[in-house]
Amino acid sequence: MRTQVGIVGAGPAGLMLSHLLHRAGIESIIIENRSREYCEARIRAGLIEQWARDMLVETGVGERMQREGIFHDGVKLRFGGALHRLDFVDLVGKGVTIYGQQEIVKDLINARLAAGTKILFEADDVSVHDFDGKKPKIRFTHEGKAQEIDCDFIGGCDGFHGVCRPSIPDGVLTTYDRDYPFGWLGILSESPPPDEELIYSYHERGFALYTMRSPVLARLYFQCAPDTDIESWSDAQIWEELHLRLGGARKLAEGKILQKGVTPMRSFVVEPMQRGRLFLAGDSAHIVPPTGAKGMNLAFADVRVLSRSLDAFYRTGKSELLDGYSQTVLPRVWKAQRFSWWMTQLLHRFPHESAFDRRRQLAELDYVATSRAASTTLAENYTGLPIE
Ligand code: DHB
Repeated sequence: MRTQVGIVGAGPAGLMLSHLLHRAGIESIIIENRSREYCEARIRAGLIEQWARDMLVETGVGERMQREGIFHDGVKLRFGGALHRLDFVDLVGKGVTIYGQQEIVKDLINARLAAGTKILFEADDVSVHDFDGKKPKIRFTHEGKAQEIDCDFIGGCDGFHGVCRPSIPDGVLTTYDRDYPFGWLGILSESPPPDEELIYSYHERGFALYTMRSPVLARLYFQCAPDTDIESWSDAQIWEELHLRLGGARKLAEGKILQKGVTPMRSFVVEPMQRGRLFLAGDSAHIVPPTGAKGMNLAFADVRVLSRSLDAFYRTGKSELLDGYSQTVLPRVWKAQRFSWWMTQLLHRFPHESAFDRRRQLAELDYVATSRAASTTLAENYTGLPIE
């Protein structure tokens, strides 16, 4: 098989890269080791920055999101027993859209297949080769047969545990990372969310987040130990913990728990995000802790730059934009890292914190809630920094 850009991974990064390339008249094939059903059911955050919403609409894959997504012009912070509202539209003239990541994945898969792009699901033993030269290759087994794709470039969109990043020779990449001493226990519940907006709650028992997928589907999270076994929490215990952390600020309706799991918390970046003709995008190059839901937005920002750089190469034969890919995307990656870390340290309880640390957190929350300068900083980052 031969294509212009071979893409490893059918998550948001790989699918959006293929979509944007297609719009520029560039062919791609996507290789994915999971099944289509698995990719479409993988529940992640569901918050889309303003520019990313606009990009989905402008490039023709935002129709269902416009119908089913919920536009939010603010959020609520809860601390000291009270709710404090931040009005994003007033502060920065932008908002965010709540629409599950897996819904975007379904919309993108449908668009790719409708356009005739090959997505090879359930490919095994995927490996990438020869990206230091001009003829990179992707090898894999599909439907029991060993296969090879010859391409001009490889998009490494295969996530944190993927094969692309580890294929880059030792000594090329520098890793920056941080683990957090907690995770999030998250549920999807068939019940109305406690508020029409998201509530980020700082509580002495630990952080909790009340979000939603629709007016009858709540998505609820709370801070837990990092090694929590989800089976050790009964549904009744989960509800009890959520009631406690919402602390009576709103009435929390209980419902059937449709899905539950534990999300680890990690900050991770590699630099550079490229080697020869292999380009990393999304989680294969960086992970943010979930507070603020920047993961998919950052993946979209990467592939927006990458697709534009590949387009410039095919149109002009010049590789300046491709050569500068990492330098172009890394400033945004680091600003999202900083913001995700900041939201995380602001709202969570840490194992060895002192009374001083808690007073400082409360002072910072109070500052964010009452100073226009501080709330503007949060709003500007939360709704999405300007794109390059
Ligand atoms: C969601 C998840 C987040 O981590 C966040 O900060 C906001 C919303 C969500 O799943 O809706």
